[in-house]
Amino acid sequence: MAHRWTRAALNPIARASAFGWLLCACGTPPALDPAPPRPRPKTGMVVCESPLASGVGAKILRDGGNAADAAVAAALALAVVLPQAGNLGGGGFALFVPHEGEPTALDFRERAPLLADPARFLDAAGAPRAELSLESAWSAAVPGTVAGLQSLLEKHGSGKFSFGKLCAPAIELARSGFLVDGALERDLGDEELRRRLEQSPGARALFYPEGKQLLKGQRLVQPELARTLERLADEGPESFYSGELARALVAELSSQADVNGAPGGDAVAGRGLITEQDLAQYRPVWRKPLRGWFRGMELITMPPPSSGGVAILETLTVLDGFPIETERRAARAAQAGTPRDPSSAAGGDSPLGAAPPSEGEPLPERAVHWWIEALRCAFAERAAHLGDPDFTPVPLEWLLSPEWVARARVAIGESAAPGRPALTPAREQGETTHLSVLDPQGNAVSLTTSLNASFGSGILVRGGGFLLNNHMDDFALFPGVPNQFGLVGGSANALAPGKRPLSSMAPTVLRRGGGSVALVIGSPGGPRIITSVVAVIVRTLVFEESLGAAVAAPRFHQQWAPPATVFESGWPAELLEALRRRGHWIDAPGTSPADAPRRFGRVQAIRVGSDGEVEGVSDWRGTGAAVAAKR
Ligand code: DON
Repeated sequence: MAHRWTRAALNPIARASAFGWLLCACGTPPALDPAPPRPRPKTGMVVCESPLASGVGAKILRDGGNAADAAVAAALALAVVLPQAGNLGGGGFALFVPHEGEPTALDFRERAPLLADPARFLDAAGAPRAELSLESAWSAAVPGTVAGLQSLLEKHGSGKFSFGKLCAPAIELARSGFLVDGALERDLGDEELRRRLEQSPGARALFYPEGKQLLKGQRLVQPELARTLERLADEGPESFYSGELARALVAELSSQADVNGAPGGDAVAGRGLITEQDLAQYRPVWRKPLRGWFRGMELITMPPPSSGGVAILETLTVLDGFPIETERRAARAAQAGTPRDPSSAAGGDSPLGAAPPSEGEPLPERAVHWWIEALRCAFAERAAHLGDPDFTPVPLEWLLSPEWVARARVAIGESAAPGRPALTPAREQGETTHLSVLDPQGNAVSLTTSLNASFGSGILVRGGGFLLNNHMDDFALFPGVPNQFGLVGGSANALAPGKRPLSSMAPTVLRRGGGSVALVIGSPGGPRIITSVVAVIVRTLVFEESLGAAVAAPRFHQQWAPPATVFESGWPAELLEALRRRGHWIDAPGTSPADAPRRFGRVQAIRVGSDGEVEGVSDWRGTGAAVAAKR
């Protein structure tokens, strides 16, 4: 089993407050007296979706690097060994939370090209053409990853490692190659992904040499990507945004422009939207993280243009006001003496990781109802109000105010409020990847990066060796028309030149009473990032589950539209039945063995006990690993 995690429960995290309140970017937490203890962690830790990349990050920690150094090296390694999601041609978000001092948030999300226009995603009859925002030359937004990693290193690196030095392990992995694992073999074998990748001559040659798909155990060598990384190491990360590499990117998109029959006849006929000017102008943005409180923990998370932080804070703050523990006691009393039905345990045959353990008690149904409704409230606001704050006014103060929270709590009655007819059912697809790092000094980096779909647009830049994202699909290109995740939006997330599409990526860090880092967490999964992160926080803090059990436990997802709540396998049938009686629309997997197993998110998390004990967990749903780096 590639991943490693500890089942034994660590000291339960202290719960100091039964009552949550929030502050947004403009507020400051209250003074705490006495000052909370800040024990240093007993070890550094890197958790991500590739054991190779976790190893790269852990080595940097052992060589004296800090969390930012290790995150940059691991993210560059992921760009080589996880082509589905790790990237140079995508973008993302990162939090840096120091052992002492102010946390910062880095936005290296892609931007829409200056030539972008929603009309380009319509057919001749004026109907939206979804494939154009997912796999045409116009689906790629201006990549932010390289500039983002450079900025993270400059602002928070230890100073012991240059960008070039941190490129070295990735260069070696690209040049000497690595062995294809089961997950990459499966993804390359997926009919739809293969069709997309084979449209790109560069991707076809790399992943399907001589027409044959790379298989598990074969070596994937990427000499072009190695040369690109060497160039970044020698000439600096700026070389991604000008000169030869920039020209290669623009030329690649132009050569792909008619692959999907993108409508032409104007300024962008026969070429992609991204120009050298777009690349030269790209800058990451340092933003103020969102901060709030849940069960005595300070929650630090990503502000817009990610919706992840707002939705997580809203959901948890609403939940903080409900008497979940009372329900739990009542459920326990009712359960006492009732034998557990073994068929209701979490599990299933995973093609990737092993089946999860079935530890943990069933959750009380009324608490699950509150939880679903809190998510519904948060996702409804996401659709209506969230977008790039540099382009659209985002009413953050209102959305994170005690008044908003109070209204949401009052609106949640005893019955579900599905509210509106179903749109396209959402399906988890695509690839994003998360990296959690803790250094032995107690600094943390939580970083999520993405190409959007698996392998992004599928377009590999010849001469650069890297894949381009398809993040134009994360805009609400047309009001009410769902994107690949079934998400709808309006003007706040409408496409505009230079704008960043709304994201669900939610790198998050919890600090103990405003003191030392207690949890570093994030996940891929589109909107299921939000529900996955919320689930692990609620299970560890409210239900006092170990991190391993909380990550392993079955999840559900609710995103307002469509109105049904979607469940992974492993939920007790009687709980689902009780939720139906409350009016919930339940989308649970059937009992037929033919039902495809459902996997929501792949959480990568590190928990630090109040005694400095450290536990890293890479979700069994993926193939990652937690690697410790002892002081
Ligand atoms: O930024 C977002 O919200 C999406 N592009 C993330 C995509 C994703 O997580 C797909 N992963 N499974």
